[in-house]
Amino acid sequence: MSAPTLSPGLLPAPVSLQPATGSFPLTDGTPVRTDPALAAAARWWRRTTEAAFGVDLPFVVGDGAVDSPAAAPGGAPRGAHQANVTPDDAARPGVTLALDASRPAGGYRLEITPQAVLLTAADAAGAHAGAQTLRQLAGPQAYRTAPVAAAPGTPASTVHLPALTVEDHPRFGWRGVLLDVARHFLPTREVLRFIDLAAAHKLNVVQLHLTDDQGWRMQVHRYPLLTEVGGWRTESNVGTWRTGVFDGRPHGGFYTQDDLREIVAHARERGVVVVPEIDAPGHVEAAVAAYPFLGTRKTPHTVRTTWGVSTEVLDPSDEALEFFTNVLDEVLDVFDSPWIAIGGDEVPTTLWRESPAIVALAEQRGLADVADLAGWFLARLSEHVTAQGRRAVVWDEGFGEQLPRDVVVTAWRGFTVGADALEAGNDVVMAPEQVVYLDHRAGDGEDEPVPVGFLRTVEDVLAFDPFPPEVLAQYPGLDAAPGRLLGAQAEVWSEHLDSPRRVDYAAFPRLAAFAEVVWSPTAERTPGGPASAEFLARLEQDHLPRLDAAGVEYRPLDGPKPWQRRPGVHGFLRHLDQEMAAGGYAGVGGWVEGRDASSEGQA
Ligand code: ACM
Repeated sequence: MSAPTLSPGLLPAPVSLQPATGSFPLTDGTPVRTDPALAAAARWWRRTTEAAFGVDLPFVVGDGAVDSPAAAPGGAPRGAHQANVTPDDAARPGVTLALDASRPAGGYRLEITPQAVLLTAADAAGAHAGAQTLRQLAGPQAYRTAPVAAAPGTPASTVHLPALTVEDHPRFGWRGVLLDVARHFLPTREVLRFIDLAAAHKLNVVQLHLTDDQGWRMQVHRYPLLTEVGGWRTESNVGTWRTGVFDGRPHGGFYTQDDLREIVAHARERGVVVVPEIDAPGHVEAAVAAYPFLGTRKTPHTVRTTWGVSTEVLDPSDEALEFFTNVLDEVLDVFDSPWIAIGGDEVPTTLWRESPAIVALAEQRGLADVADLAGWFLARLSEHVTAQGRRAVVWDEGFGEQLPRDVVVTAWRGFTVGADALEAGNDVVMAPEQVVYLDHRAGDGEDEPVPVGFLRTVEDVLAFDPFPPEVLAQYPGLDAAPGRLLGAQAEVWSEHLDSPRRVDYAAFPRLAAFAEVVWSPTAERTPGGPASAEFLARLEQDHLPRLDAAGVEYRPLDGPKPWQRRPGVHGFLRHLDQEMAAGGYAGVGGWVEGRDASSEGQA
């Protein structure tokens, strides 16, 4: 029997929490009743809790009678009862999820008394968030998939949920994390697990980076070579490309459309939207290897085995545009996301400038410079996405005069480009590499595995401010800008993360700090300050035990375990203070044509 939790240590921290006396016992036969509109969250919580604690919780959708577990072992059939459940139903014993239109969008209220649990939300998103809070309140065991205490034949344990009232809502609507499955493929089960972990941190967007120079991961029926050829490479760089070390081992894999539909449905059941990303017109070497007519030189090509920025970009021809719109049609069919990411980052113009036909094409399209072909191509792709009732998302290089204003801009090279896009009227997701690139090194010790990028500790990520005061000072009118700040996104690029264990190490626990930033109310979270200290204590005492129970191989706060090191594998360090001195938050990071060598990339 679990002891009542006195300090629930919720992470991310809720807007408000009022402790009360006593606890609610959750045991065999405790009914779970939900409004039909909130049924997905209720069903997920009930199944997760039943598995973790070995209890049977009879389930009813709507206001009907609760079936006994014996009569309906799997719970009431979906749709059996469809009438709304209102907060008045709290008078009934058990766990109730009810609609309450007065709650803020995406938020919830959770009241636990010794007699009943009442979760109210105005929408499904709020119910999902509240269900994750309920799970945290049940203690770390709630993150296991079977009870550890009960031996076969012994009675199921009772879970005690501490009496309290939580009122909560998110700071941002877009609380995202990008998972790069192109550089290193992850099997479907690992993508599902990553989505579970994102949802456990109240993140609601997982951007799946499905295509890049080093691999094409989405089955496209119309163009089967994209995965048959583009899904595989002969070997991989080990560590930074600068040392020229390779592993001599083929790598690859891809998701069938059924795999992807499963991923989408799994995410939806947890309140997470999967935003697919098909990157163009750069980062396309795998597609060019599959269909050489897409390339600028029309010659046979192989899937890239090295990291860094590739000059091998698309020929931005009408044929390539048709090809990518056809690909997007299959993407639009498989993914239900309102947003479709179409890439746009790091597009070297070297080969375009060398091709008289492409130079002529730019002139024919009335473009002032060959470089504008990238914006032209992205604008056409985004119009295609818009015509299908969705919205395109581009990396910030895609922001410019040619970009339609309904396209969302993900600002990754710095802060000011995000502010510029807001002022121009584009909605923005802030994802500056200076703070929230989780593939960048989390510590500065010698034993950090394959250290790349900036040093970004848990405390640095916790101090992330989508628009720091020094940037706001340059943009006094930003609050009134026509574009909206949708939220923020952390990125897990996988050049150096060749397994789910390495993904765990890079993402956690820094993703927990990121979750606190995008969910919890704004606060002063300077490293070393009181809020940071409180977060670190909560992380260590309350949250890491949850991740341990879930089997997450996070980076320990004091550095890697011996088997998490990668002796002899070289990274490439960048230094934030130096880059700040050379332009800092006001400057532009990432790869810049004309400034960086064409193969130069952060990794
Ligand atoms: C990026 O990091 N190239 C978006």
